[in-house]
Order: sequence, then structure tokens, then C-alpha cells
Amino acid sequence: MTTVANYRVTSAEVIDALVDLKRLPSFSNTLAEFDRLVNQAAGTHVEEVAKLLQSDPRMMAGVITTANTARYARGGQKVTRLIDAVKLLGVKDVRAMIMALSFLDVFQGGVAIDADAFLKHSLVSGFIAKNLAKTFKVAEYDAFLMGLFHEIGVYILATYSEKGFALVVEKSHQNLKYYLSAEREVFGVTHSSVGARIISHWHMPEIVVRGVLGHHSPARIELQYQNAAYLTFLAESGAIYLGVFNGVVEGVEGVLRDSVLRVLQKQGICEEDFLNAVEKGYQEAQSVGLI
Ligand SMILES: [Fe+2]
Ligand SMILES: [Fe+2]
Repeated sequence: MTTVANYRVTSAEVIDALVDLKRLPSFSNTLAEFDRLVNQAAGTHVEEVAKLLQSDPRMMAGVITTANTARYARGGQKVTRLIDAVKLLGVKDVRAMIMALSFLDVFQGGVAIDADAFLKHSLVSGFIAKNLAKTFKVAEYDAFLMGLFHEIGVYILATYSEKGFALVVEKSHQNLKYYLSAEREVFGVTHSSVGARIISHWHMPEIVVRGVLGHHSPARIELQYQNAAYLTFLAESGAIYLGVFNGVVEGVEGVLRDSVLRVLQKQGICEEDFLNAVEKGYQEAQSVGLI
């Protein structure tokens, strides 16, 4: 008989096991290369960025498609050249797009998660986080990453152990309320710590790592990173409010839970401003053609 104890691991063991099995999702190094280019002398960016993106067909197609969405299209003229697409989006938006497309690539499916829902939940949370960034004095791009990657640990645990993950889902009754305790019971770790561990493995900024680590328990994060953790908590809560669930568990749509109301109050954010950021985030995700 299989006992729960069989699945107990630490976050480090999960990552190590996936590395050994060569099943650790690889993360595009396009971003590092992109940052190197952009940090070089001014003037060469657009051409060089276009050249870099050309080496990655998926990235290239994504950037051109985005340039032709409602958000960027000007005067109904269709953009077909990569260089025009890069000019239209601008460096900051191209960077965010590289991350979003890399995230879609990381998620290869093959696990018992509703992929469409999972990706939509992640992207919508990313854009909501971006809209909350100013309030929390976090750089917009870092905020975007926290929202985008906050649930990556769910995917990693599902990849690590299909059976263990099925048991977590069963024990949670697919209800968000019981999910964390089910994870702790089965694996002894949560997707927050596993997620933080993998994005740190991918060399993401420390603030992003801490935001993901604390997205279910912001008050427990070191003081200097608590803003990031509260921001990520609220970004995911916004997605849940919209009924954009993560493809594994569901919450209650259209209601701000007590825990969310408490955080809003503590952070001095009025409900209306929060819901505006949530709505804006959703619209932005839609207008760039990602959901
Ligand atoms: Fe989560
Ligand atoms: Fe989430």
C-alpha cells in the first residue's frame, strides 16, 4: 500500500531529482542575452534585439503577433518585419514578452493540470501584479515576473511525482482552501517554496524569489521583501476574484475573501483601487493577445 510518507521531500530534493532525470524545465537564455544587449551602448538596440529574436522562431512569431494586436497596431497597418515589431513594442514591452513566451515554453504539459487554465491564471496574475507595482514600490517588470511565476511550483511538483500530485488534488477536493495543507501533508513542502527554489535556480532577482515564496504567507517573509509577497498574494487573489483559477483548484469568484480584505486594509489600499488594478491587468493580458 502506498503511504503518504513515501512522497515527502524537500524543495531542493525535488529540483535535484528533476535535474537528474533531465526533466527540469529549461528556461530560455534569450532574456540574459537580451539584457546584455540593452545594457550596451545606446543606438544599436533595435537591430541587435531583432537579430537575437530571429534565432528563436517562437519568440519571433510571438513578438510580431503582439505588435499586431489591438494594443499596439497603429492605423490598421499590419507589421510583418521583426524590426518594426520591436520598434513598436519598445524595449520594456519586448522584455516582458520574452518572459511571457519563455514561461509558455517552460510549461510543456504532460501533467494532470488543465494547461489552458494554468497559463491564463499565471498570465493574468502577472498583469495584475504589474498594475499593483507602483502601490508596493516594486519595479513593474519584477512584479510581472512574480505574478507570472507564482504557481510554477505546482507544475514542478506535478512533474516530480504524478501520484503524489494526484493525492494532493484528491485531498484538497480541488478547493483552494485545502490545497496548501494537502501539499504539506503529502509532500511536506508547498508549491511556494518549490517555486521559489526553481526561479532562484533560474537566477531571477531575489525580490521575485521572495514574492513567490511568500504569496500564501506574506506576513512570514523577511520585512524587506514583504511588499513583494503582499503584492504577489494580491495579484493571485485578483485572478481568483475574476474566476481565473489555476487549473488545479478553484476558489470563489466575485468575492474578496476576508484574508484579502485584511491585507488591503493593512496596506492602505481601497477596494475600488484594487479592483481597478485587477480589471486593468485582465484587459492588458487580453490586449497583448496572450489570453
Ligand atoms: Fe499559489
Ligand atoms: Fe495562483
